[in-house]
Amino acid sequence: MISKIAVLTSGGDAPGMNAAIRAVTRYAINRGIEVYAVYNGYRGLVENKIVKLNAHDVSEKINRGGTFLGSARLPEFAQDEVALKGVANLRALGIDALVAIGGDGTYRGAQKLSRMGINTIGLPGTIDNDIVSTKYTIGFDTALNTVIDAIDKIRDTSSSHERCSIIEVMGRHCGDIALHAGIATGAEAIITSETGFNEEELFDLVREAKANGKSHVLIVISELLTDTVQLAKNIQANTGFESRTTILGHIQRGGSPSAYDRYLATTMGAYAVQQLIDGTTDACVCTDGIDLFTVPFETALDLERSHDEFAYELAKTIQ
Ligand code: F6P
Repeated sequence: MISKIAVLTSGGDAPGMNAAIRAVTRYAINRGIEVYAVYNGYRGLVENKIVKLNAHDVSEKINRGGTFLGSARLPEFAQDEVALKGVANLRALGIDALVAIGGDGTYRGAQKLSRMGINTIGLPGTIDNDIVSTKYTIGFDTALNTVIDAIDKIRDTSSSHERCSIIEVMGRHCGDIALHAGIATGAEAIITSETGFNEEELFDLVREAKANGKSHVLIVISELLTDTVQLAKNIQANTGFESRTTILGHIQRGGSPSAYDRYLATTMGAYAVQQLIDGTTDACVCTDGIDLFTVPFETALDLERSHDEFAYELAKTIQ
């Protein structure tokens, strides 16, 4: 029987994390379980920043971006002696389970805690959509809407000035933000770690667009692939198409969560608690776009990302 659950957010924050914390808290309290907030992720767990929550503490949170628990990255949590401090802090309060909201680093921390005897369930909270076991992560939809809104605005000025606009988006090693935003804005080119990157081919694409009388060229590119400011200079020098770069940066991580993210976060949060009550541990909550289910951390962290050939081909076909 689970009697006390802790909840934390870790890694890069994502819109919808607050809605997930709220759902975990309210659902658990409703089932007679005490809930404890761990502030600042695994750092707070190790530093014993653990405070009891009541239902009212999560009022006015469902619509707020960021995470009111705070978040941090703590690579040292991979060391047994560091993680054991966290376990001791939980045990001292009689806490038997943890809901950890975040990305793959967060899942690794939760997996470690499971192996040390704490019941853990992970919730996918990251704008990157880079957790392969789930079709969607909490925060991805909101980030996409932010990106799309920005690209639509860039398109306006790009057309007025007949420019090539490069838009650099987040996603680390996952191209989903670039791919989905590029398709949703009709970008002429989408470049991700999955497509690879060839400057000469890009020059050809821009020259062709210019020859076809396009008033603008939109190129959506994932971060960390190249120096995108330099890329704009290279395109301009090689094609004669005036070019500019916009790096969207952390604006993608903030803002009020979309309806989809609030729904996903709320259902996943409640589902996570029910899974703990039912005896599931060492696993993360996933969706296939319709249903919720759990996958063991070990499996989830080991899955290979499959290439979304259909979407990438479609983007090329209809640009
Ligand atoms: O994991 C989410 C993310 O926003 C990535 O897209 C990005 O590469 C990274 O976090 C940025 O991290 P930080 O805010 O620590 O610079």
